Amino acid sequence: MWESDNDLLGRVDRNRMPRHVAIIMDGNGRWANSHGFLRSVGHTAGVKTLKNILKTAVNLGLEALTVYAFSTENWKRPHTEVDFLMHLFSEYLEREKTDMHANNVRINFLGRTEDFAPALQKLMTDSMQLMKNNTGVKFNVAADYGGQDEIIRATQNLARLVKAGEIAPEDITAEMFDAELDTCGQPPVDLMIRTGGDLRVSNFLLWQTAYAEFWFTDTPWPEFTPKEFIDALVDFGKRDRRFGALNK
Ligand code: IPE
Ligand code: IPE
Ligand code: MG
Repeated sequence: MWESDNDLLGRVDRNRMPRHVAIIMDGNGRWANSHGFLRSVGHTAGVKTLKNILKTAVNLGLEALTVYAFSTENWKRPHTEVDFLMHLFSEYLEREKTDMHANNVRINFLGRTEDFAPALQKLMTDSMQLMKNNTGVKFNVAADYGGQDEIIRATQNLARLVKAGEIAPEDITAEMFDAELDTCGQPPVDLMIRTGGDLRVSNFLLWQTAYAEFWFTDTPWPEFTPKEFIDALVDFGKRDRRFGALNK
């Protein structure tokens, strides 16, 4: 088992834990530049942060953790950076999958994925297959993911059912729509964290964050620690979530 820091974990009120936490892991490049490094150094450092945060999620017994690794818009970056990110992603999966499996992690991928190299696609499928019966944290890695793209794909699937005469347009419910999303079967996002100082959603989990609480920090992702992750969870525990209703 991954070692835990009991003092840190003890700060979280288990009765007020989010079920699903999503993280926009941002600020790698700016962190690297500010230290005189290439942007790629920031991405490599970011992988170390991810390892630590996943470990903390496992030790907390979190139900679902979703991380934004590569957006549908990130293809606009220079080829060299995109290639580096793909390489890092493959290396990370190859190296970590055994440890994740040993920790009962169930990995899943959100996004299009068909534009990835065949070897990477196989690695993703094999990792999912390896961990498919695990019952621990649902670890979703969003890669070539865009919230709008996901909504369009879901809509296309429902439109096909309508065209085939299997359902009428007015039969479509939120539950049916939910079932067509990449996060099918998982709870909605309770807490969305963004590192790196920007205050925006950048096309992440647009449907699933309908009632999420947001937590932003200036800390760039390579410097984000389990302690700050716990700070976010503690803060979440103090929020008054009304879901449109009134609290007594
Ligand atoms: C997040 O860090 C990682 C990815 C988008 C892949 P960035 O690469 O966006 O770093 P900044 O925001 O430019 O600092
Ligand atoms: C969001 O970060 C995507 C990931 C963290 C993978 P970006 O750095 O791509 O977002 P923008 O461009 O600042 O909105
Ligand atoms: Mg960024």
